[in-house]
Amino acid sequence: MNAPLPNNAAQLHRTPTHPVDPVFVERWSPRAFTASAMPRAELMTMLEAARWAPSAYNIQPWRFVHAMRQDAHWDDFVGLLDPFNARWARNASALIFLLSDRFMPARESGPATPSSTHAFDAGAAWAQLALQATMLGYQAHAMAGIVHDEVRTKLAVPDNFQIEIAIAVGRQASPASLPDGLREREVPSTRLALDQIAFAGRFPDPALD
Ligand SMILES: Cc1cc2nc3c(=O)[nH]c(=O)nc-3n(C[C@H](O)[C@H](O)[C@H](O)COP(=O)(O)O)c2cc1C
Repeated sequence: MNAPLPNNAAQLHRTPTHPVDPVFVERWSPRAFTASAMPRAELMTMLEAARWAPSAYNIQPWRFVHAMRQDAHWDDFVGLLDPFNARWARNASALIFLLSDRFMPARESGPATPSSTHAFDAGAAWAQLALQATMLGYQAHAMAGIVHDEVRTKLAVPDNFQIEIAIAVGRQASPASLPDGLREREVPSTRLALDQIAFAGRFPDPALD
């Protein structure tokens, strides 16, 4: 028998403590998706938003390898997720693997040098993609739980690219569609208070707390 549903209607509205555009609290990471097809143009709009992310030296180290549920790659992509994530993300509309180049482009004569910001830059691109997805009526859910070795071989990822995350994008479904164990977790999360993460002038001294 199914457990009672959480009162999601009441909890879906995350309230910021300072005024922000609604998209920042409306973006969240549900696991219940409708298993509906997404028009390719909408996926391209999300990737376009990611494309305009800032990066150190404008190197743009991010790369995206994607599949849509209506295409021939879908089952292979679902198979690259860990079992926990595959269980729910198989109902998304698109799956995207985000990679980042660990090296700066080589200058004229010198060797390629390691980048210290490739993962940070890729994170900015992910955030822009996720916000654009929300603005289009979808939700994007990042997943670190992926089978890295298989992603590299099956997607032919070159050695110089770090495999960052997979992203499931879909239209949100009722939590009732989720299996036991996931249904009761389908509630938007809260955040630390602003005064716990942002400090004027210097980092707070824990001895004074
Ligand atoms: C880099 C990263 C990796 C994540 N990996 C997973 C994952 O493997 N499985 C999962 O269900 N959620 C995953 N999440 C989702 C987070 O748990 C979620 O973003 C976080 O709890 C904040 O909630 P919100 O996105 O709903 O605001 C990941 C999120 C990020 C940013």
